[in-house]
Amino acid sequence: MTDLSSSTSIATMTAIVQHGYGGTEVLSIDRMPVPTPRATQVLVRVHAVSPDSGTVHLMTGDPFAVRLALGLRRPRQPIVGLAFVGVIEAVGTEVRGFAVGDRVAGSASAAFAEFVVATPTKIARIPDGVSMTDAATLPISASTALQAVRDGARVREGQSVLIIGAGGGVGSFMTQLAAAEGAHVTGMASAGKAAFVRSLGAERVIDYRATPEPADWGRFDVIIEAADGRALHVLRRALTERGTLVIVGADKSGGPLLRGADRQLRAMLLNPWVKHRLTAVMQRENSDDLAVLLDMIAQGALRAAVDEVAPLDGALAAIDRLAHQRVSGKAVIELSAEAR
Ligand SMILES: NC(=O)c1ccc[n+]([C@@H]2O[C@H](COP(=O)([O-])OP(=O)(O)OC[C@H]3O[C@@H](n4cnc5c(N)ncnc54)[C@H](OP(=O)(O)O)[C@@H]3O)[C@@H](O)[C@H]2O)c1
Repeated sequence: MTDLSSSTSIATMTAIVQHGYGGTEVLSIDRMPVPTPRATQVLVRVHAVSPDSGTVHLMTGDPFAVRLALGLRRPRQPIVGLAFVGVIEAVGTEVRGFAVGDRVAGSASAAFAEFVVATPTKIARIPDGVSMTDAATLPISASTALQAVRDGARVREGQSVLIIGAGGGVGSFMTQLAAAEGAHVTGMASAGKAAFVRSLGAERVIDYRATPEPADWGRFDVIIEAADGRALHVLRRALTERGTLVIVGADKSGGPLLRGADRQLRAMLLNPWVKHRLTAVMQRENSDDLAVLLDMIAQGALRAAVDEVAPLDGALAAIDRLAHQRVSGKAVIELSAEAR
């Protein structure tokens, strides 16, 4: 067992810090104190991180509920980011199953820093042969995708499945996971991401700008929505009679307080009254799902769709590209040269 108070002699670390709510102009790369873990936690020396739309929501303070929860003018906890990979530096006295030196992937608040404090139930050991860069793409985005395809949609072989937002972080994993189940996958994305979405296993791609009307999309046994904010009754027009609609997100729907969460709630309230199955996914990071995904990467059954590997001094530009939905799949930011 490691004495956490003496786990690292370093007092300060480099971190990506948020000074208000807005675009990447509210971020800077600063020195911050190294965090001190509790007896139930581990301290991880972070090698790489990966921004996701949750990080962007926390940066912009949109939906407004984020500000109510985290701080009205700026977040009380200033270090940004959620998904990280690294090596365990210290293990709390009450932690079982992890040791100093383990390579782990996981999520925690304040992840975009040289050191992060993590809860053992939200990290998993990275198998030999899986790179830090690939593993960094999995926390949050791939976990959400797995929970949407497996638990929300319960995708089965032979079903027709439409993934809305197929070119994004969550969507790129959902497309692969649904195709791996033997479903006939259609991905919806902008034209520039069509070839990428096909490479993930989609048999067909719908360009939502060229084909905006659901009546022109065809009918699907399953629609998983992770992008566009269309109303429930509009999306249901493209479902088969007993089809399933899974709402993962939607930045543009709902009011400023809740945005997409509003539509998720309405889907669940409407579900008992209609023939369609309407459901929503609220991501729950957990070690078991991360281990499933890491094993799939190790077996070659899942591909980490890494669009960009940015160095630390390119971190804000990478977050900006994500915020403007220019990333195909995932961006990774390397905090250390050992990240690969
Ligand atoms: N429920 C949960 O627990 C949970 C967890 C994680 C994420 N989310 C939500 O899931 C959504 C996706 O997250 P993400 O991290 O994957 O974001 P992302 O990486 O930014 O991906 C979103 C993708 O949607 C595409 N898109 C935008 N408008 C579209 C439209 N009208 N139709 C189809 N595609 C469109 C974007 O690119 P193109 O326009 O170039 O195709 C982009 O590739 C977000 O709304 C996020 O809040 C929810």
